[in-house]
Amino acid sequence: MRMPLFRGTKQRMLLFVAGAVLSSLLFSACGGSTSILNTDGPVAESESFIFWVILAIAGVIFVGVEAMLIYSSWRFRERPGMPAPRQLHGNTTLEFAWTAAPAVVLLIVLVFTIRGLWQVAPENRPTTGKTEVVEAIGHQWWWEFYYPSYNITTADTLHVPVGETIQVKLYSNNVIHSFWIPALTGKTDVIPGHNNSRWFIADKAGVYEGLCAEFCGLQHANMRFNVVAEDSTSFDTWAISQQQAATAPTSGSMAAAGQKLFTAQCSTCHGIIGVDSKAFVDPSQACDNPNGTTKDPCYVGPNLTHFASRATQGNGSQQVGLIAGGVLENNLAQCTPGDPNLLQNCNVAKWLHDPQGIKPGNDMNIGALSTDDINKLVAYLKTLN
Ligand code: CUA
Repeated sequence: MRMPLFRGTKQRMLLFVAGAVLSSLLFSACGGSTSILNTDGPVAESESFIFWVILAIAGVIFVGVEAMLIYSSWRFRERPGMPAPRQLHGNTTLEFAWTAAPAVVLLIVLVFTIRGLWQVAPENRPTTGKTEVVEAIGHQWWWEFYYPSYNITTADTLHVPVGETIQVKLYSNNVIHSFWIPALTGKTDVIPGHNNSRWFIADKAGVYEGLCAEFCGLQHANMRFNVVAEDSTSFDTWAISQQQAATAPTSGSMAAAGQKLFTAQCSTCHGIIGVDSKAFVDPSQACDNPNGTTKDPCYVGPNLTHFASRATQGNGSQQVGLIAGGVLENNLAQCTPGDPNLLQNCNVAKWLHDPQGIKPGNDMNIGALSTDDINKLVAYLKTLN
């Protein structure tokens, strides 16, 4: 019996068109800052090159196979009165060919992959030029960054000098995270007890998005950070400013009341140099050795010594400052103590008001703060430049 070849063609065409539209929408989403194809450094470039090689090979195979399929379906289609086709049973040459061809294709992919792995390997980071070492510590759920050569700690924003090799040492004392800056470097697991490292170079100044790429608990999606790549002079200025202790608020001011409140309520989890903490400590060492010799404690939350310097800069068109792993923008400019709409306008006030509502499961378990207390704390946090 003859089967009508084009039965349901319309439906299939519709399906095809819908599929094409959907996939083009998906691909258009790849233009954002978390695209691995918008690269701004040699490591990410080397990685995206492997993608293009595989895409090109797969594209040639796809077009070839589809062309043969369409041609054969048309050329050898059934016509009225046609005899049964010639029956073939095996063709040794073809069998060898289609066994060998995929092996050759995979070998080509393997060569490019090994070349890429070699280029980005930690031991092959460039030795010419300057290298900045940064420790990235994965917490549940935010990133802490420690610069051993400056002995400074920051959170949620990673500053790097443009053109210099950044060697990132990755630590976790909780679960496995994955460090990822799509435009600059691929993912590397951050494993407790197994210290990985990664290098990258930012070719030009800008703000890049970083994120955790390994499911690490309830708030895994809110474990983002920003990378500020700046010229080496700006970087040095920033690093030196971070070395200073916090300036003491004017006595009797609202900020001074906020500092008092900080010492009473927040200092178990947050450090501020000159207030509850003497100096920055290497978190990877302190936190890994709870019974070690480190005199300063290992804090659960971010060091707040220069919290205000981590706020969004400029006109806000570029979101730089983040709070709590990127769940909120650090918009301190919109925070005016005494503002009756403080809880609507000021993100850090929102955070202080209800951290568990904004990011359920995070480590900030504080009792309800009064609006008065929140105003005092915001006034104090604004002084921490
Ligand atoms: Cu850390 Cu996902």
